[in-house]
Amino acid sequence: MGFKVAILEGDGIGPEVVNCARKVLEAISKIFNIELSFEYGLIGGAAIDKFSKPLPEETLSLCKESSAILLGAVGGPKWDSLPTNMRPEAGLLALRKELDLYANLRPVKVFSELSDSSPIKNIDGVDILIIRELTGDAYFGEPRGIFEKDGELFGVNTMQYSQSQIKRVAKFAFEVAKSRKKKLTSVDKANVLEVSALWRKVVSEVAKDYPEIELEHLYVDNCAIQLIKRPKSFDVLLTGNIFGDILSDEAGALSASLGMLPSASIGSSYALYEPIHGSAPDIAGKGVANPIATVLSVGMMLEYSFKNKKAAKLVEEAVSKALKAGVFTPDICPEGKKPSTTDEMCNAIIKALEEGG
Ligand code: IPM
Ligand code: MN
Repeated sequence: MGFKVAILEGDGIGPEVVNCARKVLEAISKIFNIELSFEYGLIGGAAIDKFSKPLPEETLSLCKESSAILLGAVGGPKWDSLPTNMRPEAGLLALRKELDLYANLRPVKVFSELSDSSPIKNIDGVDILIIRELTGDAYFGEPRGIFEKDGELFGVNTMQYSQSQIKRVAKFAFEVAKSRKKKLTSVDKANVLEVSALWRKVVSEVAKDYPEIELEHLYVDNCAIQLIKRPKSFDVLLTGNIFGDILSDEAGALSASLGMLPSASIGSSYALYEPIHGSAPDIAGKGVANPIATVLSVGMMLEYSFKNKKAAKLVEEAVSKALKAGVFTPDICPEGKKPSTTDEMCNAIIKALEEGG
């Protein structure tokens, strides 16, 4: 049985990093005898330029008929002046919402070869899985907009979660915690926000079905500190859409570069894989983008969509081997070493794959 992968390259460095991830998938398909096909669709700025909208119907139907979706990144200065709902980012948000991809998994691990490049000391051994709710919160709540009242403008967004939205992502997180170190930290701002008070209540109720999991609640401001002070004490970190967006970038710094962090966005019918980083317009087209986050996203695709843990592990090992061989893109390059290009990094990963990780 074959798998069809929808590829949405997006903007900026998107096409460059996706190109490497596709090569990795092709190498894996030969090693493990997996039948794969690829079909491309437009999203973000690239779609705005061609179809005047960030998520064309063609792209959405392609995603719905594929076994998994691989996405690069969206956005860039060219489209910055467009209204919020017409920006490249709106295409990605609409895709997450349309496919109901409610659980966004963002693993934060530190490769030992990079521990000296992390701004945090003694970082070896950090292994956090951030689970960010992806279909609710200020990202989608109504009312939203810029309104005129009393002769001036008001910007409005609404933080909103239903009980069922919280419950399903909490269940997902507790289930995942069972196969890890059995610790779950739920992050909210329940001392100030009603939406968070409900979040905390529902998470605590779900916790009753998982007595073997240790549950800790943290306020988001405190969590931001604890991630720096005691990163090794975290296992699964569950939070809403906007706090998850911010905390996952912070956690990215632990692993030396955002260019290292993959993600999987999972719903009951579909799954999308993308690096956490953005389209990095400043380095787009220069051939120096770090492809590792996208390559590791493909690793997550192998694990979660194709149920092939062995292949997923091989991808991770190949990345580690490329780093051990001294290949570093500029964002992760230790002082005194010569930085490599995207292609050099990609070739090193593929060589390691072919040698068996
Ligand atoms: C992310 C990104 C997106 C988000 C943007 C590009 C819409 O920052 O995936 O973290 O805010 O969710
Ligand atoms: Mn983000």
